[in-house]
Amino acid sequence: MSAAQFIPKKNTNSVEKVSFKWQTPSNIALVKYWGKSNPQIPKNASISFTLKNCHTITTIEFSKKETSTDVEFDLFFEGKKKEEFKPKIAEFFKRVAEYCPYIFDYRMTIHSENSFPHSSGIASSASGLSAIAMCLMSLENVLNSDLTQEFISKKASFLARLGSGSASRSVEGPLVVWGNHPKIEGSSDLFGVQFPYKVHSVFENYQDAILLVDKGEKQVSSTVGHNLMQNHPYAENRFVQANDNLAKLSKILQNGDIKAFVNLVESEALTLHAMMMTSNPYFILMKPNTLEIINKIWEYREENNSNICFTLDAGANVHVLYPEKEKEKVNQFIDNQLSKYCQKNHYICDTVGFGAKKL
Ligand code: PMV
Repeated sequence: MSAAQFIPKKNTNSVEKVSFKWQTPSNIALVKYWGKSNPQIPKNASISFTLKNCHTITTIEFSKKETSTDVEFDLFFEGKKKEEFKPKIAEFFKRVAEYCPYIFDYRMTIHSENSFPHSSGIASSASGLSAIAMCLMSLENVLNSDLTQEFISKKASFLARLGSGSASRSVEGPLVVWGNHPKIEGSSDLFGVQFPYKVHSVFENYQDAILLVDKGEKQVSSTVGHNLMQNHPYAENRFVQANDNLAKLSKILQNGDIKAFVNLVESEALTLHAMMMTSNPYFILMKPNTLEIINKIWEYREENNSNICFTLDAGANVHVLYPEKEKEKVNQFIDNQLSKYCQKNHYICDTVGFGAKKL
């Protein structure tokens, strides 16, 4: 499949004014994407759990313009006009313009809000950009009514990817693979696909408690981080390892070997951070409390014969992952022993979800 399939044919319908509202989720990678080439092509395949409670809700109102020269839009975040968020969205529209030429024909008014606090350290680019991509696809579906549901999901993921790689994994759920991988049927560098095999019941309704250790602005933007994988001394081995890990995780997800899951997921998280520590410039995104939490999780796992584990994004927050049947005990453990390491004792209980929802 090539990107050219996403360039639309001439519109079959027309519309003057229309509005769409979508809710799209955040996601948490189990095998991490870190390193890319142009245009947003991953150096290795990745897989994530789609989340349920951490999401963005975006409405776009499209009003037909007289002339179709520039992309014109207004952006409101949580009810307030946000000029400072516009350049990122303008860049996104620039990247998708070839595939969505209809954006030149409409003035767009975008209203967006997140279910999680903006300054929580939870990346909003995945849910935010996938929500805009879904709204664009809703318009495209009105203009060309012969689109299939499968095409709409694929193209939405393709568009979201052009904004932020991990956003390609925020259209569907509960597990999404992005990046071409020989052992995952249908996988592609161009868009995310649902994990195509039957998943063992132990991974159903998996829990993710996000411990907000550091709510500050990202120390290193992900663009800078990905670029540091160029000329990185361990990059090539890392890309091979990630693809091997995805092959292993695919089997684990099917056979329910939860001990192997715990080992692989934690190793992936620490390897991502090891890549950051061994790049040049180097950086440490974990905070002392990140390590306190990790050690407490290891202690708890040992003492309770639990299958709790952690993963990390490119930041200090800790995602605590555990099976649904441990929910009650682990939530108590988090409340009693981990929440004190979070800013203002703040953490978010989430669970695996099923992707974008039209509202
Ligand atoms: O989508 P980006 O460019 O913000 O990169 C995200 C990278 C990680 O969150 C660190 C890992 C991943 O696979 O989500």
